[in-house]
Amino acid sequence: MLAAGDATGDAARMKTFAGRVAVITGAASGFGLELSRGAAKRGMKIVLADVQNDALGRAHAELTAAGAEAMAMRVDVSHAADVEALAAATFERFGAAHLVVNNAGVAVGGLVWESSLADWQWALGVNTWGVIHGVRAFVPRMLALAKADPSYEGHVVNTASMAGLINIPNTGVYNVSKHAVVSLSETLYHDLRLIDAPIGASVLCPYFVPTGIHESERNRPTELAREQQTTSQKAAEAFARIAVTKGKLTAAEIAERTLDAVAEGRFYVVSHPNALGDVRTRAEDIVALRNPTDPFGARPEMREMLRAAVRSHDT
Ligand SMILES: NC(=O)c1ccc[n+]([C@@H]2O[C@H](COP(=O)([O-])OP(=O)(O)OC[C@H]3O[C@@H](n4cnc5c(N)ncnc54)[C@H](O)[C@@H]3O)[C@@H](O)[C@H]2O)c1
Repeated sequence: MLAAGDATGDAARMKTFAGRVAVITGAASGFGLELSRGAAKRGMKIVLADVQNDALGRAHAELTAAGAEAMAMRVDVSHAADVEALAAATFERFGAAHLVVNNAGVAVGGLVWESSLADWQWALGVNTWGVIHGVRAFVPRMLALAKADPSYEGHVVNTASMAGLINIPNTGVYNVSKHAVVSLSETLYHDLRLIDAPIGASVLCPYFVPTGIHESERNRPTELAREQQTTSQKAAEAFARIAVTKGKLTAAEIAERTLDAVAEGRFYVVSHPNALGDVRTRAEDIVALRNPTDPFGARPEMREMLRAAVRSHDT
Protein backbone atom coordinates (compact mmCIF):
# COMPACT_ATOMS: atom_id res chain seq x y z
CA MET A 1 0.00 0.00 0.00
CA LEU A 2 1.23 3.50 -0.73
CA ALA A 3 2.05 5.70 2.23
CA ALA A 4 0.37 9.09 2.35
CA GLY A 5 2.68 11.54 0.63
CA ASP A 6 4.10 8.91 -1.73
CA ALA A 7 0.72 8.40 -3.22
CA THR A 8 1.41 9.02 -6.89
CA GLY A 9 -0.22 5.67 -7.61
CA ASP A 10 -0.58 5.04 -11.34
CA ALA A 11 -0.75 8.77 -12.11
CA ALA A 12 0.31 9.77 -15.61
CA ARG A 13 3.78 11.27 -15.67
CA MET A 14 5.86 13.10 -18.24
CA LYS A 15 9.10 11.15 -18.10
CA THR A 16 10.85 12.88 -20.97
CA PHE A 17 11.51 16.62 -21.10
CA ALA A 18 14.17 17.01 -23.80
CA GLY A 19 12.80 18.09 -27.18
CA ARG A 20 9.32 18.61 -25.80
CA VAL A 21 7.40 21.89 -25.54
CA ALA A 22 6.74 23.85 -22.35
CA VAL A 23 4.27 26.73 -22.24
CA ILE A 24 4.62 28.94 -19.18
CA THR A 25 2.48 31.94 -18.25
CA GLY A 26 3.85 34.64 -15.99
CA ALA A 27 7.20 33.61 -17.48
CA ALA A 28 8.91 36.98 -17.21
CA SER A 29 9.49 36.97 -13.44
CA GLY A 30 9.62 34.89 -10.29
CA PHE A 31 8.49 31.26 -10.48
CA GLY A 32 7.57 31.51 -14.17
CA LEU A 33 11.03 32.72 -15.13
CA GLU A 34 12.72 30.04 -13.02
CA LEU A 35 10.44 27.34 -14.42
CA SER A 36 11.34 28.54 -17.91
CA ARG A 37 15.05 28.41 -17.08
CA GLY A 38 14.65 24.95 -15.52
CA ALA A 39 12.63 23.59 -18.44
CA ALA A 40 15.17 25.02 -20.91
CA LYS A 41 18.00 23.37 -18.97
CA ARG A 42 16.14 20.09 -19.38
CA GLY A 43 16.21 20.61 -23.15
CA MET A 44 12.62 21.75 -23.63
CA LYS A 45 11.43 24.25 -26.22
CA ILE A 46 9.88 27.14 -24.33
CA VAL A 47 6.87 29.34 -24.97
CA LEU A 48 7.10 32.32 -22.64
CA ALA A 49 3.86 34.20 -22.03
CA ASP A 50 3.48 37.30 -19.92
CA VAL A 51 1.65 40.61 -19.83
CA GLN A 52 4.78 42.65 -19.03
CA ASN A 53 6.53 43.20 -22.34
CA ASP A 54 9.91 44.55 -21.19
CA ALA A 55 10.54 41.72 -18.73
CA LEU A 56 9.25 39.21 -21.28
CA GLY A 57 11.74 40.50 -23.85
CA ARG A 58 14.59 40.13 -21.35
CA ALA A 59 13.56 36.59 -20.44
CA HIS A 60 13.33 35.60 -24.11
CA ALA A 61 16.74 37.13 -24.90
CA GLU A 62 18.31 35.32 -21.95
CA LEU A 63 16.92 31.92 -22.88
CA THR A 64 17.77 32.15 -26.56
CA ALA A 65 21.29 33.39 -25.72
CA ALA A 66 21.64 30.28 -23.55
CA GLY A 67 20.79 28.17 -26.60
CA ALA A 68 17.13 27.39 -25.91
CA GLU A 69 14.57 27.31 -28.67
CA ALA A 70 12.06 29.81 -27.32
CA MET A 71 9.25 32.09 -28.40
CA ALA A 72 7.69 34.90 -26.40
CA MET A 73 4.18 36.24 -26.61
CA ARG A 74 2.48 39.07 -24.79
CA VAL A 75 -0.62 37.53 -23.25
CA ASP A 76 -3.10 38.79 -20.69
CA VAL A 77 -4.25 35.49 -19.22
CA SER A 78 -7.46 37.04 -17.94
CA HIS A 79 -8.63 37.30 -21.57
CA ALA A 80 -9.80 34.03 -23.13
CA ALA A 81 -8.92 35.27 -26.63
CA ASP A 82 -5.31 35.96 -25.59
CA VAL A 83 -4.87 32.46 -24.17
CA GLU A 84 -6.55 30.87 -27.18
CA ALA A 85 -4.14 32.86 -29.40
CA LEU A 86 -1.25 31.58 -27.25
CA ALA A 87 -2.33 27.99 -27.82
CA ALA A 88 -2.75 28.56 -31.55
CA ALA A 89 0.68 30.24 -31.82
CA THR A 90 2.32 27.44 -29.80
CA PHE A 91 0.93 24.76 -32.12
CA GLU A 92 1.78 26.79 -35.22
CA ARG A 93 5.40 27.22 -34.12
CA PHE A 94 6.11 23.92 -32.38
CA GLY A 95 3.21 21.65 -33.36
CA ALA A 96 2.59 20.56 -29.77
CA ALA A 97 2.43 21.44 -26.10
CA HIS A 98 3.57 18.93 -23.49
CA LEU A 99 4.06 20.87 -20.27
CA VAL A 100 1.59 23.70 -19.67
CA VAL A 101 2.16 25.84 -16.59
CA ASN A 102 -0.69 28.20 -15.74
CA ASN A 103 1.33 30.33 -13.38
CA ALA A 104 0.62 34.04 -13.94
CA GLY A 105 -0.79 35.66 -10.83
CA VAL A 106 -1.25 38.86 -8.88
CA ALA A 107 -1.69 39.61 -5.19
CA VAL A 108 -4.48 41.75 -3.77
CA GLY A 109 -5.17 42.19 -0.07
CA GLY A 110 -7.32 43.98 2.48
CA LEU A 111 -10.44 43.21 4.50
CA VAL A 112 -12.92 41.39 2.25
CA TRP A 113 -15.63 44.02 2.45
CA GLU A 114 -13.17 46.78 1.56
CA SER A 115 -11.99 45.09 -1.64
CA SER A 116 -13.35 46.93 -4.64
CA LEU A 117 -15.11 45.39 -7.60
CA ALA A 118 -11.95 46.16 -9.57
CA ASP A 119 -9.84 44.24 -7.02
CA TRP A 120 -12.08 41.18 -7.34
CA GLN A 121 -12.22 41.38 -11.12
CA TRP A 122 -8.48 41.83 -11.53
CA ALA A 123 -7.34 39.11 -9.11
CA LEU A 124 -9.96 36.54 -10.09
CA GLY A 125 -9.41 37.47 -13.74
CA VAL A 126 -5.68 36.69 -13.64
CA ASN A 127 -5.42 34.06 -10.90
CA THR A 128 -8.57 32.04 -11.53
CA TRP A 129 -9.83 32.81 -15.02
CA GLY A 130 -6.23 32.71 -16.26
CA VAL A 131 -6.00 29.07 -15.19
CA ILE A 132 -9.48 28.27 -16.53
CA HIS A 133 -8.56 29.77 -19.91
CA GLY A 134 -5.28 27.83 -19.91
CA VAL A 135 -7.00 24.52 -19.24
CA ARG A 136 -9.71 25.17 -21.83
CA ALA A 137 -7.28 26.26 -24.53
CA PHE A 138 -4.58 23.61 -24.06
CA VAL A 139 -6.05 20.39 -22.66
CA PRO A 140 -8.29 19.57 -25.67
CA ARG A 141 -5.32 20.14 -27.98
CA MET A 142 -3.13 17.92 -25.78
CA LEU A 143 -5.78 15.20 -25.78
CA ALA A 144 -5.94 15.38 -29.58
CA LEU A 145 -2.16 14.87 -29.71
CA ALA A 146 -2.47 11.92 -27.33
CA LYS A 147 -5.14 10.34 -29.52
CA ALA A 148 -2.94 10.64 -32.58
CA ASP A 149 0.29 9.51 -30.90
CA PRO A 150 0.32 6.68 -28.32
CA SER A 151 3.74 7.84 -27.08
CA TYR A 152 2.43 11.30 -26.17
CA GLU A 153 2.95 12.42 -22.55
CA GLY A 154 1.77 15.74 -21.16
CA HIS A 155 1.40 17.56 -17.87
CA VAL A 156 -0.48 20.60 -16.61
CA VAL A 157 0.80 22.57 -13.62
CA ASN A 158 -1.41 25.23 -12.09
CA THR A 159 0.10 27.69 -9.66
CA ALA A 160 -2.16 28.18 -6.65
CA SER A 161 -0.70 29.06 -3.23
CA MET A 162 -0.78 28.07 0.41
CA ALA A 163 -3.59 30.65 0.24
CA GLY A 164 -5.50 27.99 -1.71
CA LEU A 165 -5.31 25.59 1.24
CA ILE A 166 -5.77 27.86 4.25
CA ASN A 167 -7.32 31.29 4.77
CA ILE A 168 -5.05 33.92 6.27
CA PRO A 169 -7.01 37.05 7.27
CA ASN A 170 -6.88 40.31 5.30
CA THR A 171 -6.18 38.43 2.05
CA GLY A 172 -9.69 37.36 1.06
CA VAL A 173 -9.66 38.14 -2.63
CA TYR A 174 -6.40 36.28 -3.12
CA ASN A 175 -7.57 33.35 -0.95
CA VAL A 176 -10.75 32.97 -2.99
CA SER A 177 -8.86 33.11 -6.27
CA LYS A 178 -6.39 30.44 -5.15
CA HIS A 179 -8.87 28.05 -3.48
CA ALA A 180 -10.62 27.97 -6.85
CA VAL A 181 -7.33 27.00 -8.51
CA VAL A 182 -6.79 24.13 -6.07
CA SER A 183 -10.34 22.90 -6.71
CA LEU A 184 -9.98 23.20 -10.46
CA SER A 185 -6.62 21.40 -10.37
CA GLU A 186 -7.82 18.51 -8.21
CA THR A 187 -10.83 18.08 -10.47
CA LEU A 188 -8.63 18.25 -13.56
CA TYR A 189 -6.48 15.49 -12.05
CA HIS A 190 -9.55 13.31 -11.44
CA ASP A 191 -11.05 14.09 -14.85
CA LEU A 192 -7.83 13.15 -16.68
CA ARG A 193 -7.70 9.85 -14.81
CA LEU A 194 -11.37 9.24 -15.50
CA ILE A 195 -10.56 9.05 -19.21
CA ASP A 196 -7.10 7.44 -18.74
CA ALA A 197 -5.38 10.38 -20.41
CA PRO A 198 -1.57 10.26 -20.60
CA ILE A 199 -1.56 13.73 -19.09
CA GLY A 200 -0.66 14.47 -15.49
CA ALA A 201 -1.66 17.40 -13.33
CA SER A 202 -0.02 19.19 -10.42
CA VAL A 203 -0.85 22.15 -8.27
CA LEU A 204 1.95 24.37 -6.97
CA CYS A 205 1.19 25.82 -3.54
CA PRO A 206 4.02 28.08 -2.44
CA TYR A 207 4.04 30.03 0.81
CA PHE A 208 6.13 33.21 0.91
CA VAL A 209 9.03 33.11 -1.55
CA PRO A 210 10.96 36.17 -2.81
CA THR A 211 9.64 37.12 -6.28
CA GLY A 212 7.93 40.20 -7.70
CA ILE A 213 4.49 39.19 -6.34
CA HIS A 214 4.40 41.96 -3.71
CA GLU A 215 4.75 44.45 -6.57
CA SER A 216 1.83 43.04 -8.57
CA GLU A 217 0.27 46.49 -8.93
CA ARG A 218 2.83 47.15 -11.68
CA ASN A 219 0.67 45.09 -14.01
CA ARG A 220 -2.82 46.20 -12.97
CA PRO A 221 -4.70 47.34 -16.09
CA THR A 222 -5.92 50.93 -16.13
CA GLU A 223 -9.56 49.87 -16.60
CA LEU A 224 -9.35 48.09 -13.21
CA ALA A 225 -7.28 50.81 -11.52
CA ARG A 226 -7.24 51.12 -7.76
CA GLU A 227 -9.24 54.17 -6.73
CA GLN A 228 -8.01 54.48 -3.17
CA GLN A 229 -6.13 52.34 -0.70
CA THR A 230 -7.74 51.63 2.66
CA THR A 231 -5.76 51.08 5.85
CA SER A 232 -6.27 47.33 5.62
CA GLN A 233 -5.08 47.29 2.01
CA LYS A 234 -1.96 49.23 2.95
CA ALA A 235 -1.43 46.76 5.79
CA ALA A 236 -1.80 43.82 3.40
CA GLU A 237 0.72 45.31 1.00
CA ALA A 238 3.24 45.99 3.79
CA PHE A 239 2.68 42.50 5.21
CA ALA A 240 3.20 40.87 1.80
CA ARG A 241 6.36 42.89 1.20
CA ILE A 242 7.89 41.75 4.49
CA ALA A 243 6.71 38.13 4.23
CA VAL A 244 7.77 37.73 0.59
CA THR A 245 11.12 39.50 0.73
CA LYS A 246 12.12 37.69 3.93
CA GLY A 247 11.41 34.28 2.45
CA LYS A 248 14.49 32.08 2.65
CA LEU A 249 13.79 29.65 -0.18
CA THR A 250 14.42 30.82 -3.73
CA ALA A 251 12.05 30.72 -6.68
CA ALA A 252 14.70 28.65 -8.50
CA GLU A 253 14.55 25.96 -5.80
CA ILE A 254 10.76 25.83 -6.01
CA ALA A 255 10.92 25.62 -9.80
CA GLU A 256 13.28 22.63 -9.57
CA ARG A 257 10.98 20.98 -7.04
CA THR A 258 8.04 21.56 -9.39
CA LEU A 259 9.77 20.05 -12.41
CA ASP A 260 10.82 17.06 -10.29
CA ALA A 261 7.17 16.64 -9.25
CA VAL A 262 6.15 16.63 -12.93
CA ALA A 263 8.68 13.88 -13.67
CA GLU A 264 7.47 11.88 -10.67
CA GLY A 265 3.76 12.44 -11.30
CA ARG A 266 3.24 14.16 -7.94
CA PHE A 267 0.16 16.35 -7.66
CA TYR A 268 0.75 18.58 -4.62
CA VAL A 269 3.88 20.69 -4.72
CA VAL A 270 4.58 22.87 -1.69
CA SER A 271 7.42 25.20 -0.77
CA HIS A 272 7.06 24.97 3.01
CA PRO A 273 6.03 21.45 4.14
CA ASN A 274 6.15 22.62 7.77
CA ALA A 275 3.16 24.88 7.06
CA LEU A 276 1.03 21.83 6.20
CA GLY A 277 0.12 21.56 9.88
CA ASP A 278 -2.17 24.55 9.28
CA VAL A 279 -3.82 22.67 6.42
CA ARG A 280 -4.34 19.67 8.67
CA THR A 281 -5.83 21.89 11.38
CA ARG A 282 -8.24 23.44 8.87
CA ALA A 283 -9.33 19.99 7.67
CA GLU A 284 -9.74 18.82 11.27
CA ASP A 285 -11.82 21.93 12.08
CA ILE A 286 -14.17 21.04 9.24
CA VAL A 287 -14.45 17.37 10.18
CA ALA A 288 -15.00 18.23 13.86
CA LEU A 289 -17.46 21.01 12.94
CA ARG A 290 -15.23 23.31 15.00
CA ASN A 291 -14.98 27.03 14.28
CA PRO A 292 -11.92 27.97 12.16
CA THR A 293 -8.64 27.91 14.09
CA ASP A 294 -6.49 31.03 13.85
CA PRO A 295 -4.17 30.30 10.89
CA PHE A 296 -1.45 32.31 12.64
CA GLY A 297 -1.57 29.92 15.61
CA ALA A 298 2.07 28.93 15.21
CA ARG A 299 3.20 32.48 14.32
CA PRO A 300 1.42 34.80 16.82
CA GLU A 301 3.88 37.62 16.13
CA MET A 302 2.62 37.76 12.51
CA ARG A 303 -0.98 38.02 13.70
CA GLU A 304 -0.07 40.82 16.11
CA MET A 305 1.81 42.71 13.40
CA LEU A 306 -1.16 42.42 11.05
CA ARG A 307 -3.71 43.28 13.75
CA ALA A 308 -1.82 46.44 14.68
CA ALA A 309 -1.49 47.51 11.06
CA VAL A 310 -5.15 46.88 10.17
CA ARG A 311 -6.35 48.81 13.23
CA SER A 312 -4.00 51.76 12.75
CA HIS A 313 -5.53 54.96 11.42
CA ASP A 314 -4.32 56.90 8.40
CA THR A 315 -2.30 59.93 9.42
N1 LIG B 1 5.99 34.51 -4.36
C1 LIG B 1 5.15 34.02 -3.47
O1 LIG B 1 5.38 34.15 -2.26
C2 LIG B 1 3.93 33.27 -3.93
C3 LIG B 1 3.24 32.51 -2.99
C4 LIG B 1 2.13 31.79 -3.40
C5 LIG B 1 1.74 31.80 -4.72
N2 LIG B 1 2.42 32.55 -5.62
C6 LIG B 1 1.95 32.54 -7.01
O2 LIG B 1 3.03 32.28 -7.90
C7 LIG B 1 2.66 32.73 -9.20
C8 LIG B 1 3.81 33.47 -9.82
O3 LIG B 1 4.03 34.67 -9.10
P1 LIG B 1 5.46 35.11 -8.60
O4 LIG B 1 5.47 34.96 -7.14
O5 LIG B 1 6.51 34.50 -9.41
O6 LIG B 1 5.35 36.71 -8.85
P2 LIG B 1 5.97 37.62 -10.00
O7 LIG B 1 5.28 38.92 -9.91
O8 LIG B 1 7.45 37.61 -9.87
O9 LIG B 1 5.58 36.87 -11.34
C9 LIG B 1 4.25 36.90 -11.83
C10 LIG B 1 4.29 37.10 -13.34
O10 LIG B 1 2.94 37.10 -13.81
C11 LIG B 1 2.82 38.14 -14.79
N3 LIG B 1 1.43 38.56 -14.93
C12 LIG B 1 0.70 39.36 -14.10
N4 LIG B 1 -0.51 39.57 -14.60
C13 LIG B 1 -0.58 38.88 -15.78
C14 LIG B 1 -1.58 38.72 -16.74
N5 LIG B 1 -2.78 39.31 -16.64
N6 LIG B 1 -1.32 37.93 -17.81
C15 LIG B 1 -0.09 37.35 -17.95
N7 LIG B 1 0.91 37.49 -17.07
C16 LIG B 1 0.66 38.25 -15.99
C17 LIG B 1 3.73 39.24 -14.26
O11 LIG B 1 4.08 40.17 -15.28
C18 LIG B 1 4.91 38.45 -13.73
O12 LIG B 1 5.90 38.27 -14.72
C19 LIG B 1 1.40 33.57 -9.01
O13 LIG B 1 0.28 32.82 -9.42
C20 LIG B 1 1.36 33.82 -7.53
O14 LIG B 1 0.06 34.05 -7.06
C21 LIG B 1 3.50 33.28 -5.25
